[in-house]
Amino acid sequence: MTLITMESRPEPEAALAAWARSLPPDFVWGVSTSAYQIEGAAARDGRGPSIWDLRCRVPGGVANGDTGDVACDHYHRYAEDIALMRTIGVAAYRFSVSWPRLLPRGRGAINPAGLDFYDRVIDATLEAGIEPWLCLYHWDLPQALQDLGGWAHRDCAGWYADYAALCARRYGDRVRRWITFNEFSVFTLFGYAIPWAAPGIVDRTQHLRAIHHVNLAHGAGVDVLRALVPHASIGAIHNRQCVIAEGGRAENQAAAALLDEHWNLAFPDPQLRGHYPPQVAAAIEPHVQAGDMARICRPVDWIGLNHYGPIFAKADPTTTWGYGWGAAPPDSPTYDIGWAVFPDAFRDELLELTRRYRVPIFVTENGCGGSDSPDGSGRVADPHRVRYLSLYIEAMRAAMNAGADVHGYFVWSLLDNFEWGSGYGPRFGLVHVDFATQRRTLKDSAFWYSALIGNRQG
Ligand code: FCB
Repeated sequence: MTLITMESRPEPEAALAAWARSLPPDFVWGVSTSAYQIEGAAARDGRGPSIWDLRCRVPGGVANGDTGDVACDHYHRYAEDIALMRTIGVAAYRFSVSWPRLLPRGRGAINPAGLDFYDRVIDATLEAGIEPWLCLYHWDLPQALQDLGGWAHRDCAGWYADYAALCARRYGDRVRRWITFNEFSVFTLFGYAIPWAAPGIVDRTQHLRAIHHVNLAHGAGVDVLRALVPHASIGAIHNRQCVIAEGGRAENQAAAALLDEHWNLAFPDPQLRGHYPPQVAAAIEPHVQAGDMARICRPVDWIGLNHYGPIFAKADPTTTWGYGWGAAPPDSPTYDIGWAVFPDAFRDELLELTRRYRVPIFVTENGCGGSDSPDGSGRVADPHRVRYLSLYIEAMRAAMNAGADVHGYFVWSLLDNFEWGSGYGPRFGLVHVDFATQRRTLKDSAFWYSALIGNRQG
């Protein structure tokens, strides 16, 4: 196993390291991944196609025509990847299960090889002293269900509940931490309104129906997990990023307000407060049946926050909802891939989530994309990521000091991976992956994170 030496590596600032050491022992330091982004083996051992396999075949659907066919080949290299996590010293591993690997047609016939694969991942994770956090849905809907209407079809909530039950029965003896969905608003908005993700549909009605049915699926999933995994700790992951009107201009304010509802409120509000935000409520009403809000608003144990930076909105009458993605102010700091670096917004989101929903929070994604590569000696220096992580963890510390109810933090991501529509361009990993050879190399940020968190394994 690789030994970590800190010689000439960036080290966490002393005050931050002392604070990290002072946290209660059950504060969770982890890393996150998702199935389609790392597994590869897209057509191996009986896996069925997902909407992302098809998206990758649409001309212009993904940068460079990249696909997740091989990705990090984690399907075959999971043991090495779990060993890397052990080397870094994380206490928790958040991963997702691929629905079409378990149910190639989304429902009906089960693929035993798929079930076995996650048995191996879970067992190896536990053997490494790392707690598995299982996410049921990270965007890879089986294509067979999309062919029936996907999330725009109300029955999709029931198909999801059956899939959740399959996972609960199979893995519930070993997995305590369950996540119903990752980033509801991203995959519904970019899948059904602004065509940046699978299934690439542009349709207001389908978008509204998808919002509502995904919320129903979440509620049904919580009920299934409660019934089948008595000790389960259940959460859902929401992305929240403050929406800023481009240039602060009056003509962009309405766009920002509507995007804020779609992006930040359309899922956690009904799930945790029992109602949609006002503009969504008015539009979605024809798709809501009696009793639905109670089906959606089921008690969870915690929520996950995924956060990178603020987003900017502008009026754009050519789009589905009249809003478009605006630009950050020209002088704002950004990292390699152009996303704004604004740690105060992260601090504020943590405080706002605590105030608004009053449930414990885990930061389930935060991280920095870049174009890292090994130098002549094989070292991967990524000072931008070290700086980003230290600024954002410092902001989390400020939020916690001000009362934010935060219980853990997961870096996105363990590995460089398939970054959806951006293909293999942006690298978010603590571990560099050479996609030609599948060689893994710990980046400086991995050493930095390891030093910050100490060895937190149980
Ligand atoms: C989040 C996704 C994750 C990854 C990061 C960079 O929106 O949940 O899969 O793509 O962004």
